[in-house]
Order: sequence, then C-alpha cells, then structure tokens
Amino acid sequence: MNLDEAFLERLKTANSIVFFTGAGISAESGIPTFRGKDGIWNKLKPEELANFNAFLKNPDMVWEWYQHRRTIIHETGPNPAHYAIANFENYYDDVSVVTQNVDNLHGRAGSSHIYELHGNIERNFCVDCKTDYDDSKIDLSNKQVPKCEECGGLIRPDVVWFGEMLPQLVFANAQRKAEQSDICFVVGTSAVIYPAAYIPIEAKRHGSYLVEINIEETEISSYVDCSLFGKAGEIMPVILDQIKQLKNY
Ligand code: OAD
Repeated sequence: MNLDEAFLERLKTANSIVFFTGAGISAESGIPTFRGKDGIWNKLKPEELANFNAFLKNPDMVWEWYQHRRTIIHETGPNPAHYAIANFENYYDDVSVVTQNVDNLHGRAGSSHIYELHGNIERNFCVDCKTDYDDSKIDLSNKQVPKCEECGGLIRPDVVWFGEMLPQLVFANAQRKAEQSDICFVVGTSAVIYPAAYIPIEAKRHGSYLVEINIEETEISSYVDCSLFGKAGEIMPVILDQIKQLKNY
C-alpha cells in the first residue's frame, strides 16, 4: 500500500492523534455492523430495540437483544485493528480513541484514553434510582430484564439510545481532543449519526489531517484528505509498520 507524501509527513511530525471509530472496526471480530450489506438495521428496527420507549413497552425483548449482543462480545476479542490503535501509544505522546462502539474492544486491546460517545454495553443502571450494575453483577444467561436490588426498578444497558443525549462531558472532551489533533483517523464508520459525526468535521476544521479507513465510500469520503479502502484489520497494522520505519524503531 502506497501512502501519500502529505500523510507520511504528518505521521512523521504529529504529536496528537485521534481515532474516531465505528462498528466496522469490530466487524472482523465478528460483531455485526448496523448499516451496509449485513447491517443489523436491515433486519431489525432501531425504533423497536434501541430507544427508551421500546424498552418500557417491551423490556424483556429489548433486554434479550442486548444479552445476545453481550454474549457475542464476550465470546470474541479485539482484532488487529484494535491492537494496532493501542500500539500507537508507543510512538505518539497523545493518542485518543473516540468511539461510537459500546463493545469495549478498544479497552480490551489496551488503549488508555477512550471516549465512549454511545456508552458501554458492559455497564448497566437502574432506570429509577440510577444504581450502577456492571456485567459481573448480571446473569448473562437470564433473558428477562433484571430488577434493581435497591428499588426494584428495571435495569437497562448503559448505552445511548435514539433520542437520548450523549454523555455531555465525554463528548465535550472528545471534541476538544479532535480539535487539537494533528491526524484524525476515521475508521469503520458510516459517519451518518450525529452529533458523533461532528468529531471528524471539527477535527478538520481545526487543521487536523483526516484519514478514512473503510471497505467502501461513505458520507465523509469527499471531505477527508485521504481515503484508504480495505479492512481496518489489514490496513491499520500496515500504517503502524510505516510509522516504525519513519521513526526508525
Ligand atoms: P455503521 O454500521 O453505520 O457503519 C459501519 C461502517 O463500517 C460502514 O461504513 C462499513 O462500510 C464499514 N466497515 C464494515 N466492515 C469494515 C471493516 N472490516 N473495515 C473497515 N470498515 C468496515 O456503524 P457506525 O458508523 O458505528 O448508534 O454507526 C453509528 C451509530 O449508528 C452506532 O453507534 C449506533 C448506530 O445506530 C447507536 O446505537 C446510538
């Protein structure tokens, strides 16, 4: 793979790197994406599964769907793209991962600075008294929604559903990192869900070099400085090898 000169120059001089990631980075770990050919939202309706009213109407069904996703996530692990991103920390002082994913695979791969814009499926909380329940306190084989030990309220996954606010402080800090970045990688996302998709736009507006890695063109392809088409698990390790050469490690 030939990387263009401007990109190589940025890789050489950059201090601050941001990765903006989406479901596509976990596709090679066997976690289905939302859109595209085999996307979840082709077969299932987000309005019946990924919003609070659907949960109140049919909590067991929504819970069972999240249990299914949790099981897939627990049984798999990070892939070479997650590990390559974690490895950037050996070459740059300031590396942040801003992810729309709730699967915690960046954390399991070893990334230290992660901004989870849409929450984390391994955390849960009571809708009434807000008590936190991490996955160790949840029986993964139970298909029925558990009840809070404190108040009897329904326990929900700590993910952002459609119509809900993003965690404001996490988003503000992620945006600040994007604005300060020298390179912003946009990896495995259709970049159509806002406000998350403002992250790369803000990065570029503040002078960051935008590099997209995706198997196909997306909404943001015409806006980025450089598009690398292919699987993230194949492309990210190649970029890391280039960095090792550039920095003579
Ligand atoms: P999408 O499912 O919308 O997009 C996944 C992207 O990954 C697509 O552009 C694919 O082409 C690309 N892709 C698939 N396999 C890939 C691979 N091996 N390597 C590189 N790219 C690959 O997922 P997101 O953009 O993450 O929100 O979706 C954003 C949000 O919409 C999600 O966080 C979720 C969803 O509804 C909420 O649940 C709030």
